[in-house]
Amino acid sequence: MSLDGFRNISRTRLEFSPHLNILLGDNGQGKTNTIEAVCLALSGKSPRDSSIENFIMQGRERCSIVCDVKSDDLTDPTVGVTISREGRKHTINDSRIRSRQNLLDMFSVVFFGPDDLRLVKDSPQVRRDFLNESISCLYPAYSGVLSEYARTLRQRGVLLRDWSPSSEPLLEVYDDTLAKTGSTIIKYRIKTLRQLGSMAAGRYEAISGGSERISVSYISDILKSAAGADEIEDLYRNALAGARRSDICAKTTTVGAHRDDISFFIDAAPARKFASQGQQRSIALSMKTALTDLIREVKHQEPVILLDDVMSELDRGRRDSIASMLSGGQVFITGTGLDFVPSGTDTRTFRVRSGNITEETV
Ligand SMILES: Nc1ncnc2c1ncn2[C@@H]1O[C@H](COP(=O)(O)OP(=O)(O)O)[C@@H](O)[C@H]1O
Ligand SMILES: [Mg+2]
Repeated sequence: MSLDGFRNISRTRLEFSPHLNILLGDNGQGKTNTIEAVCLALSGKSPRDSSIENFIMQGRERCSIVCDVKSDDLTDPTVGVTISREGRKHTINDSRIRSRQNLLDMFSVVFFGPDDLRLVKDSPQVRRDFLNESISCLYPAYSGVLSEYARTLRQRGVLLRDWSPSSEPLLEVYDDTLAKTGSTIIKYRIKTLRQLGSMAAGRYEAISGGSERISVSYISDILKSAAGADEIEDLYRNALAGARRSDICAKTTTVGAHRDDISFFIDAAPARKFASQGQQRSIALSMKTALTDLIREVKHQEPVILLDDVMSELDRGRRDSIASMLSGGQVFITGTGLDFVPSGTDTRTFRVRSGNITEETV
């Protein structure tokens, strides 16, 4: 990977191990920035919420990331990202990609950082993001549906803010799109959650010693009266129609997939209320490991795994369960010290100091 002006990294070329890469350094040196670049280039999205200007090194006009990827099918693509204040250009072998789906079809990336450990207690938005990212990775066509939904939701919001009775026909058009895309989103989410949930239950049993069982369910106002998947689109349409008057008053769309949530249970008790911090972390960990399991099963791909500063946050048993999610693929682990490094051959260790990254030869 070559970086130029990406956050605090001025100009660097890095040769990574196909297996384990360890980035060590004090806080604020550029470890997360480095693996963020990998994530952005290969998945089209940064794990950190970020506006475009933040990627560009202060005082510069633009930045770039170039990844030369070695792939099993020997196509060895080169992925390029250039970011300027005008926007972002993402290429595969020098041709501009049309949508994020092109990247998601080609690569699978799983990012795991300290924030992810708060999945159970965090806001519904965080759980929706987790689900959206997981499904986009597993079933790349989902990302297109999701962006069409988001775009329509924004347009509907603009219409509601400047409401006049003559807006009614356009609202009908938006509602039709929302019902179609929103119900598709919900179907994907239910299906994926079922798959992730059952894999995560197995993983959780291993972490907790088999005494407890977790389950997860999808929470949606739309589904309150649903008997089967065929009806979801109709229910969606009805829910939008039923909420129309209150949406016009509230100037926003009050029902739909963007308001949904997921709930975790340990045995039958809601984990958000009853689970200890340790149990909640184990659930989060189980869901992430389940995702890597599922990527292998569904996409027949080995995900690139980015573990950002999570090792130091976890005890022995939970570290072992992280180690079990690493199998054969390329892994990046950041941390301040070598307190935990999974054993493996073909390891490269890098030292990160104020944006300078140098390989350590031990
Ligand atoms: N656009 C930018 N230009 C210059 N420096 C940046 C930019 N964005 C972030 N940084 C710097 O990057 C550093 C944080 O890097 P990070 O990778 O998060 O650290 P860590 O090694 O702790 O993971 C901070 O010092 C921050 O000021
Ligand atoms: Mg960091």
